[in-house]
This record gives sequence, C-alpha cells and structure tokens, in this order.
Amino acid sequence: SFLGIDLGTSGLRALLVDDAGQPIGSTERHYDVAHPRRGWSEQDPADWITALQGAVADLRAAHPQFASLRGIGVAGHMHGACVLDAQDRVLRPAILWNDTRSHVEADALDADPRFRTLTGNIVFPGFTAPKLAWMAAHEPDLFAQAARVLLPAAYLNLWLTGEAVGDLSDASGTSWLDTGARDWSDNLLALTGMTRAQMPRLVEGSAPAGRLRADLAAEWGLSGSVTVAGGAGDNAAAACGIGAMAEGAGFVSLGTSGVLLAARDGYAPAPDTALHSFCHAVPGRWYQMGVMLAATDSLNWLGRVTGATPAQLTADLGPLRAPGPVRFLPYLSGERTPHNDPAIRGSLTGLAAATDRNDLTRAVLEGVAFGLADSLVALQSTGARPTRLMAIGGGARSRYWLEVIATALDVTLTLPEDGDFGAALGAARLGMVAAGAGTVEQVMTAPRVTAEIAPDAGLRDAFAAAHRAYRAAYPAIRAIQ
Ligand code: XUL
Repeated sequence: SFLGIDLGTSGLRALLVDDAGQPIGSTERHYDVAHPRRGWSEQDPADWITALQGAVADLRAAHPQFASLRGIGVAGHMHGACVLDAQDRVLRPAILWNDTRSHVEADALDADPRFRTLTGNIVFPGFTAPKLAWMAAHEPDLFAQAARVLLPAAYLNLWLTGEAVGDLSDASGTSWLDTGARDWSDNLLALTGMTRAQMPRLVEGSAPAGRLRADLAAEWGLSGSVTVAGGAGDNAAAACGIGAMAEGAGFVSLGTSGVLLAARDGYAPAPDTALHSFCHAVPGRWYQMGVMLAATDSLNWLGRVTGATPAQLTADLGPLRAPGPVRFLPYLSGERTPHNDPAIRGSLTGLAAATDRNDLTRAVLEGVAFGLADSLVALQSTGARPTRLMAIGGGARSRYWLEVIATALDVTLTLPEDGDFGAALGAARLGMVAAGAGTVEQVMTAPRVTAEIAPDAGLRDAFAAAHRAYRAAYPAIRAIQ
C-alpha cells in the first residue's frame, strides 16, 4: 500500500491506497492557525507531527493493509517558512502562506528585477523569501541562528526520513528558485542573506527523497523498506490527483481560495499578470495558476451576514440567468491574480430597493466566476488554451455556480466520479512513482467524468459584458478605498 499525506491549513488528511492506487481509507486530524497579530498566520510544526501520528494510528487501526506500506508522499500548504537551528530545532512558529506581515519586504524584493526574471513570479507577500527578510529585520537573533529553512512538506520529509529534502513544485513558491532551470538560485538566496547550505536538497516530486526512518518504521509496525517521495505543493499534488499533466489539462478549485490551474509542457512565465508559474511535481513539466484569495470564503461571508448556510443561499436560484445590475468584487482578503493587491477590499454595487437575497447570492457567485475568468485571461496571454477543466473543491457542489463559471470562462467544466481526487491522492501517487510502482503516465490518470457543464451559448455575451463591467469596477473601487 501507499500513503498520501495532505498537510492542509486547517488539518492533515492521510489517504491509504492499494498497490493499484485505489483508495482504501482516509482520516483527518485538525489543528489551529494562530493569528497573534493582524495579518499574521502561524502554526507550530509540532502540531503537524501530532496530527500525522494520530492519522497513522487511525489508519493502522482501521486497515491491515497499512502493514504492507511501500511508499509515502507528502503534499503541503505552500510558501510557509519553517526555520530550524543547527540541531534541527524549530526556532519560531512557521509563518504561513496567508500571512501578510512581510508585504514591505516583498515589495522591496519584487522591485529588484532579478526576482521576476529568475523565478518567473511576482514576489508575493505570502511567499517564503520575504518572510526571511522580515525575520532578518525584526527577529535578527533568530535569523542569525537559522541553519535551515524548510517548506511545510519538506519539514515532514525531514521528520519522516531524517534528511532535508524538498521538491521543485513547492520550492517554486519560495522566490528563491530558478524556475526554468529547476534549481535554487544562489544569486536570489544571496539577495536575502541566505545560502544554498540553508536550503533542502531538491528532487523532483515523483523521485525518491529518502527512506522512512528505521525507528519510525518499527514504531508503525512496518517491516519492509518504505520510500518517501519528494512530494509536492498542494496544488501540484491536486493536479497529480486528477491526472492534469498534459498541456492545457487542469482544474478550477472552489475552496477557501479559488484556483484556476493548467499544466504546461514548457515554461512560459508571465509575472506581470500575477499568474503563478511553477514547476510541476514530475520532471520536465510546469503548471500555471491564477489564485484568488476568497472563493467559497465569499459565499461563506454572505451566509454569515444573512444568517443562511451556503447550501441555503444557492438552493433556489432557478435556471441560470444573465447577470443583473448587482456586482460583487470578491476581494475580501485582498487579491493575488490578477491585481497583486493585498490592500484592496470587496464591494457590492448596483443595489436597489428590490434587491433580494437571491440577487446578492447570484452576484457573489458571478463575482468569483469573473475573478476566475481574469485568471483565465492571464493564462491565455501565455499561450495556454484550456477548453475543459475539472471542477473540484467544496463549491463545486452548487450546480448553479458551475454553470456561471462555465459560461463566464467559456470553458466546459467536468465533474469527476465520487471519490478522492485531491492533494492526498496526488501525494500517494507521487509515493507510488517514487517507490517504482509505476511510471508517471501509468499512475497519474484522470478520474472518470460523470457530468459535463458546457457554457450556456445564449448567455455567453451577457456574461462577457458583465465581466467587462466587473473589470472596470476594480480601478474605480481602488480609487475610493
Ligand atoms: C498557492 C497558495 C495556496 C496554498 C494553500 O500559491 O498559496 O493554494 O498552497 O494551501
């Protein structure tokens, strides 16, 4: 069997699959995010280990197949900084992807053109290098003791194998990687006062990172040798989970944040569009994605202020209709793609005395769809031409929302059969390839599609017009905030 670990922001999911890659069982353990100050977001890596040990105990108790474990892959929330001393002790809580304290440092690094040229990306405040620059400025004693900086998934790799090894897809989100060359950039590291010696050794996500520590294997009741894969950032792992490897294959993910991702055969960065251009978790491939910070979060917000659950909000919207005069900008937490604007906030405009809850709900669903459409426009500017995207994430339960998105993007959305196709499956698949259980082509297959949602041809023009109005609203709202 093989184990896929998805180290998420709110909890750790562990999925056990059989030797053919079919899910056997899964479990989840939760932990908290601390927000000790406004804009700060931290976790204690010890909580991840507790969650992992608990998850393994669950799987061992429920599934005898755990005893034949051959490979492990870890997917992690990206960009977080785990800073360790020379004895591999954690120096401070990990600073997470959604922590914006280092926006001043991010702007300063981003102003140096070498970062965008070599990494292919804007230095976003959530990325790793500015976090270390922040530590150098605000916690110089800790910064001086920093012997190692690991991303969350690489921290678990270290704990599992005893070796500091990270994968290229996750390293792409640090602002230290030469993304085209698939290697650390010594120059970029030096610009933040760092060296390669502080970084983990890099491997492809589907390549072996090491072997499970003998003491841990014994503790878990395992007799054979267990390979730990390089692993991946969670979005690359999710792409592996749905088999999005070939040029243009990808997904729309409606989670807390919204992601529109397409796999690419080559490296075609477009940092000015605020697209993310990252190494894929398998050799010779890249992927690009637009990230919006509030997708289901936007609907959750409307639910909170109207006293309804998201399911109640979307329950009777009727058949898809053209966008009305109410317009929602989904920038509740600022925005990454396409604006790279941590300070912008959302808006609702076009309200009338007759506006009701369904009008507001439609406006929120449309606003998120237009945000995803902005990411698609950015992707298309690099030559990507996705025509079918798989819809994943909790928001994909709303049929109306899927119809809105398909029509706003003019792309057919596909729905996978019921099952487990997230980052945990992708991580398990990386473990399979790393352990020699199959090739990337054999293992990273697409799930069966059970439904297709095509754009509504009759409403396409109305949605395109509303998208133009939505785009025009951003600079206007920006000007009054
Ligand atoms: C991607 C990003 C998020 C995190 C959260 O750039 O910041 O998707 O990986 O899981």
